[in-house]
Amino acid sequence: LSLVVLISGTGSNLRALLEATREPGYPARVIAVGADRDASGLEHAAEFGIPTFTVPFREYASREQWGSALLAAIGEYAPDLVVLSGLMRLVPDNVVSALSPNLINTHPAYLPEFPGAHGVRDALASGASQTGASIIVVDNGVDTGSIIVQERVPILADDTEESLHERIKPVERRLLVDTVRRIADGLDLSAR
Ligand code: GRF
Repeated sequence: LSLVVLISGTGSNLRALLEATREPGYPARVIAVGADRDASGLEHAAEFGIPTFTVPFREYASREQWGSALLAAIGEYAPDLVVLSGLMRLVPDNVVSALSPNLINTHPAYLPEFPGAHGVRDALASGASQTGASIIVVDNGVDTGSIIVQERVPILADDTEESLHERIKPVERRLLVDTVRRIADGLDLSAR
């Protein structure tokens, strides 16, 4: 299964996927990594000898035009699956329509709890004793797509947003690596 992974930040979840693809027999490979800005995580791709592309959001007059440019960049690689892994940008409808259902996202909360860009901070602020990590098929809403898999993560009394996010990320990485493997092995994303 060929993947393009899109990031905005440090790409630690991307790195976990890159390392998994080194395992003999892992049925997927990352063929390119893209970002909406000059993301530090692009260095992981370079280290693994994987091509990268950047489609800077701020260079486009509208979200749709950015989306079209993103689709063109992804189209150069024609992947089987696009993985949003820390892309801190809502992809517009033209992107979802073109890629669905082969477009998944990792989210650091137990959806539908705490959707959006600040899921970790919101979970902490809510006073809840647990949150989670979720892998979803991307639809036109904000983290509203069908849930492929999710797992609970405890919130500790002295947690900061940082410490909680660092406890969530390893769970996200494990769920993502396993979900990509399941998709490569035939998991049907459309029947959801
Ligand atoms: C991940 O928790 C992802 O779900 C969220 O932002 C974080 C990205 O972390 N959207 P990294 O860039 O993979 O380190």
